[in-house]
Amino acid sequence: MSDVAPSEGERLQKVLARAGFGSRRVCEELIDDGRVRLNGAVARLGDRVDTANGVVEVDGVPIGVAPDLVHYLLNKPAGVVTTAADPQGRPTVVDLVPPEPRVHPVGRLDLDTEGLLLLTNDGTLTHRLTHPSFGVEKEYLAQVQGRPSRGAIRRLREGVDLDDGRTAPAEASLVAPDLVRLTIHEGRNRQVRRMCEAVGHPVVRLVRTRIGPLRDPQLRPGRWRPLTLEEVRALERAARPAGERR
Ligand code: URA
Repeated sequence: MSDVAPSEGERLQKVLARAGFGSRRVCEELIDDGRVRLNGAVARLGDRVDTANGVVEVDGVPIGVAPDLVHYLLNKPAGVVTTAADPQGRPTVVDLVPPEPRVHPVGRLDLDTEGLLLLTNDGTLTHRLTHPSFGVEKEYLAQVQGRPSRGAIRRLREGVDLDDGRTAPAEASLVAPDLVRLTIHEGRNRQVRRMCEAVGHPVVRLVRTRIGPLRDPQLRPGRWRPLTLEEVRALERAARPAGERR
């Protein structure tokens, strides 16, 4: 049961419908089937949600419920800083998306790294995507110096010793003689660059090509687009604690 008085807040089925779970009718069925929790308890038809503070879960996955949530997928070009404001006055990723409502980048890409970056004002999703225990996969294409051997690729896969500890097992493959595809689910600082360097192949160019279920080869550098509701749902599902992933 919600803490909100019966007449306050928005009807749960309306909030669910807006978040992309289907028509209000379908959302009522979700509630009726006991698949929705509100503030930790199984929700009931007629429950209302305080969209500023209420916690809504569908099938155990917390979802963002504020009415003005936006989620942008940006293809970050090199030379743009992943921050909201840069003291040195360099262009930032926030300059590349609409100014209102204000959004923040989820995680960061180095100044010279290109590729997919999520920006949002959805705090629930941000927390889940950035917390190490949720371990959402990120895929990178790294153009490197030299020609990595099979042994070097195996080391990337099995884990390499960095100054902040050994990296977790990763997916690594060679897609061209100097091009490594690397999928990691940790988010350490400059991790891909340091891993490649550690196996003797410093990175020349680095592009992030996937964040969990999100990829978009059509999105040109410097461009952004809103995520679809299905993509937001898929991201929320991908951001589950390791033991709960299906
Ligand atoms: N790994 C890196 O080395 N740099 C990035 O920007 C992202 C991952």
